[in-house]
Amino acid sequence: IEQQHIITKAVLDAEENERKRIASDLHDGVGQLFSAVKLNMNGLFDRITLDREEDRFLAENTLALVDESCKEVRIISHRMMPNMLLRSGIASDLKSFIEKIDGDSLKVTLEATGFKDRLESNVETMLYRIIQETVSNVIKHAGATRLDIILTRDKDGINATVADNGKGFDTTQIGSFTGIGLKNIITRIEYLKGVVDYESVLGKGTTVNIWVPVA
Ligand SMILES: Nc1ncnc2c1ncn2[C@@H]1O[C@H](COP(=O)(O)OP(=O)(O)O)[C@@H](O)[C@H]1O
Ligand SMILES: [Mg+2]
Repeated sequence: IEQQHIITKAVLDAEENERKRIASDLHDGVGQLFSAVKLNMNGLFDRITLDREEDRFLAENTLALVDESCKEVRIISHRMMPNMLLRSGIASDLKSFIEKIDGDSLKVTLEATGFKDRLESNVETMLYRIIQETVSNVIKHAGATRLDIILTRDKDGINATVADNGKGFDTTQIGSFTGIGLKNIITRIEYLKGVVDYESVLGKGTTVNIWVPVA
């Protein structure tokens, strides 16, 4: 079992390093290329005169798309970067992550208590990934209008509850899902020696309960 733990740690560390690399490539490679495209296009459209209304409309639209792509790349790369977490801690990082969710389509609340001390960064990063994937699943699959997150730190560990009022799913099928999100969550929770529990009612919503020990 100890051997298994070492192997899992190596795999998870490798995965985190790979994320770091992809995030940097995205940010520094694709991101900066896009910024250059934006700059050049701005310059080009300043210099040329477009006579037709439709052409001006298309030019403006294209610029707006390029602008949006720049922002998107930035957001994705920041989201992937574990270093971002180490700056302010899981509770406030989670806060800034959910602030980016469009509140008109999904109303999100976050209640965090007991997060004065910083956690061991490994635990913190993994728990953040777990919650991030859980929230992404709500956005992608639940079709919910509400998402309520409660994060509580006590002397033994951290409890996280992520509840949505969406369409729910059959939790008995988790073992046969082809997605990697839930599988990753389960691997990480096992590694942290925590517990995760899915309660879902079709048509009513899903509640994910997570507990991880923190010394
Ligand atoms: N909050 C949720 N509401 C409804 N369905 C969900 C929710 N979370 C997970 N699911 C279901 O579980 C499946 C597996 O999720 P996951 O492993 O993260 O894969 P992926 O997100 O790539 O589809 C999803 O495809 C979805 O059907
Ligand atoms: Mg997923």
